[in-house]
Amino acid sequence: MSDSDTQTIQNMVTGFSRLNDEEVFKQCQTYGANHYPRYDLIIRTAEGVWLFDVKNNRYLDCLAAYSAANQGHHHPRIVQAVAGALQNNYGSVLSNMVYTDVLGIFYEKLNKLLPQLAPRFGEHGNKILPKNGGVESVETAIKMMRYYGYKEKGITDGKQEIIVFENNFHGRMITEVSYSTTKKYKEGFGPLTPGFIAVEFGNIDAVRDAITDNTCGILVEPMQGEGGMYQPPDGFLKDLRELADEKDIILTFDEIQVGLGRTGKMFCFEHENVVPDGLILGKAISGGVIPLSVFAANSRLMDIAFNPGSDGSTYGGYPLACVAGCAALNVIVEEKLALRSEQMGAVLKKKIEEIASRSDKVKEVRGRGLFIGIELHDGDAMKYCKKLLDLGVLTNDSHGHTLRISPPLIITEEQIEYLVERLDEALVK
Ligand SMILES: Cc1ncc(COP(=O)(O)O)c(C=O)c1O
Repeated sequence: MSDSDTQTIQNMVTGFSRLNDEEVFKQCQTYGANHYPRYDLIIRTAEGVWLFDVKNNRYLDCLAAYSAANQGHHHPRIVQAVAGALQNNYGSVLSNMVYTDVLGIFYEKLNKLLPQLAPRFGEHGNKILPKNGGVESVETAIKMMRYYGYKEKGITDGKQEIIVFENNFHGRMITEVSYSTTKKYKEGFGPLTPGFIAVEFGNIDAVRDAITDNTCGILVEPMQGEGGMYQPPDGFLKDLRELADEKDIILTFDEIQVGLGRTGKMFCFEHENVVPDGLILGKAISGGVIPLSVFAANSRLMDIAFNPGSDGSTYGGYPLACVAGCAALNVIVEEKLALRSEQMGAVLKKKIEEIASRSDKVKEVRGRGLFIGIELHDGDAMKYCKKLLDLGVLTNDSHGHTLRISPPLIITEEQIEYLVERLDEALVK
């Protein structure tokens, strides 16, 4: 790039490079797999709740990377922690043949946030197994549930069954798409992984009917995110808890998207006063800076399922991820982001409901905390997402019919006003 080019873009937000938008589109589309339906938008920098394009146009991020950026983009405490770890030589990947101090600190910090999981197995505390992307920890949970069925319930290995729910979303690897009920996620990717039975979300009778002697686990999102932003009927999680206890089945909650403050509680299961046996967390656990996810369970269950050699991951729980994890958890706790989500979510939902009352386009508003879905009568949420993008707000659809509003939990009342004005414009005018 010549000096004169540098001059012309002096006032622009360049981010990582000085490539113009056309060049970036060309590179991405020529060399990258086409696996996301992306907007024609290139974001160069991100700070707090805002995303900036090359011309310094700002967009209010109402997706927050599907909850990965709950703390806001580039939260200074998380950035400082990660930069410091690299500069001071304790942040790079090490062979998992050694312990690191930050691993222990991260385990303890997370443990202190958790209630005793699976108390029926004793008050032994919990243990944590770290991975990278969320889907990997879902697989860890599946391994644990299957192993428990095999070892403790005497189910023949290979015959273990796990109950999942229609419209579930647990990730995109072969096993997760195998039990997805969305055709697009799985068609043509066979052979698929057996051992899963999908029943209606919220229907406890269907769960009871699906249980066999081979059932070892139930895997559920306490609120469905990708499946349409649905909350199960009151009492459903409690009923699942009772059924799992009665039949000696491991109940695992996937809180990758709805955990860590997103729905107005630290964990979504707190709304129902129900404690799972296993818990999967990801995304916000490292503040949107480094991929990190965990599977947590009662220590006894974890010790039954995993011993040296039975699991592993090169980057899972590596020092830099743990540094980010510690800082990310500190921010969630010390900035009271769960409470903030509850309070700001209530303000925002009320305003959206008021908009809905004047709109002939909105079918239903639902959600908890800053996890709000707006279902549209015409079933085409993306049409409204595109309008919102033109107005400076980034959103997307959930399951086609529902507009998803899930901004970083640090959002202020002023920023909520900015959003509400634009929602009004997109949904009423
Ligand atoms: C509930 C749930 N589980 C699992 C995943 C998969 O996480 P990842 O994309 O980090 O693999 C997601 C991602 O959106 C999710 O929402």
